[in-house]
Amino acid sequence: MAIHSKFLDALTPSSIRSITAKIRDKAKNGETVISFAGGLPSSEFFPVEDIKKIDAEIFSSEHGNAIQYAASDGYDPLREYLVEFMKRFGVEGINYKNILITSGSQQGLAYLSKGLITPGSVVITENPSYPGALDTFNAYGASVIGIDMEEDGMSMDKLENVLKENKNVAFIYTIADFQNPMGVSMSVEKRKRLVELAEEYDVFIVEDGPYSLLTFNGKVMPAVKSFDKYNRVIYSGSTSKTIAPGLRIGWLVADEESIQKLVYLKMRDDLQVNNIAQRQVYHYMKEYGFDEHLQQVIDVYRERRDVMIDAIKASFPEGTKIYKPEGGLFIWLELPEGADSMEMFDFVFQKNIAYVPGVFFCPDGSHKNAMRLNFSTTDKDTIAKYIPILGEMIKAYKK
Ligand SMILES: Cc1ncc(COP(=O)(O)O)c(C=O)c1O
Repeated sequence: MAIHSKFLDALTPSSIRSITAKIRDKAKNGETVISFAGGLPSSEFFPVEDIKKIDAEIFSSEHGNAIQYAASDGYDPLREYLVEFMKRFGVEGINYKNILITSGSQQGLAYLSKGLITPGSVVITENPSYPGALDTFNAYGASVIGIDMEEDGMSMDKLENVLKENKNVAFIYTIADFQNPMGVSMSVEKRKRLVELAEEYDVFIVEDGPYSLLTFNGKVMPAVKSFDKYNRVIYSGSTSKTIAPGLRIGWLVADEESIQKLVYLKMRDDLQVNNIAQRQVYHYMKEYGFDEHLQQVIDVYRERRDVMIDAIKASFPEGTKIYKPEGGLFIWLELPEGADSMEMFDFVFQKNIAYVPGVFFCPDGSHKNAMRLNFSTTDKDTIAKYIPILGEMIKAYKK
């Protein structure tokens, strides 16, 4: 008999993975899909040679100790490094005890969900938002309420109304920089107001920042956490989009007492994050030209974004609204009212082109006319060739 429980039986496959499955089926038939659906950094820039060198150095200096059991809160040199790193986002006055290393930011989101969501809890998110987070909040029993987005982040007035109406809010979840999926960033005024609202209504904020350094105009925004006088914000960082996601290194930043509680949770979960990956990231960021690497990737992504925007402008239906991102990995589009990007998915997919329909990011089923396109993993010639085909297919689609 298969294992079963109320919790397990309520879990569903992730919506975006259903697209990945379709792509895999095509691959089995020998067909290549041009996927604008992924949320991936481009593997062509992963620092493989540097990581090989780092591995050799780790084992010659640390021997077996490098793969011995280690502390649950993380590798201290990496934690110390991240204290300095957080200053890039204006987060000052912390020490290594304010940092817990996690296996990617997804694990941090899972810990915060396990720790803070109780029966009847509400989690407030941006609408649209990252499905991996929404699925996690749902899995641990929260009702998710989405707040409409404006071009400078979620509507603070709508947020305040929801805070007034709901007494059981576990936390507010925000991706303040180059939001997934819309690519927009929250204004500084809204960041400050968000912290004040959290204090006034006695709730926490979870700030997820995997894209913050992927900035195309050189500007790095101060984190919501940098305005946090009240210890209301738990910041979640990641190296998945800036180095490589398979290393699975993320971190949470919070007051010491909160971190200690999360460490107890980690002890009951996976004991610790992989030692080697923590060392790889530490040495890479500190000694192997992380900033030059980042600049190289940013230059390529910016160019791909520009090629994609031009191709969309030239080929998509009139009235399409394009959100031009100043960083991150995605372009969000709103097709003219009445279009349904979910319905047209299979029609477009005949041409072996994939995107993510807007509804996948919206628990309330809104944004049916929207879609998210990823520009980081496809080279500019391929973007220039296939975006017009996508545009033509959208125009050709009839219900
Ligand atoms: C907003 C956001 N948070 C978290 C994650 C997961 O990141 P990680 O690889 O650090 O777990 C993603 C991945 O796409 C994301 O877009």
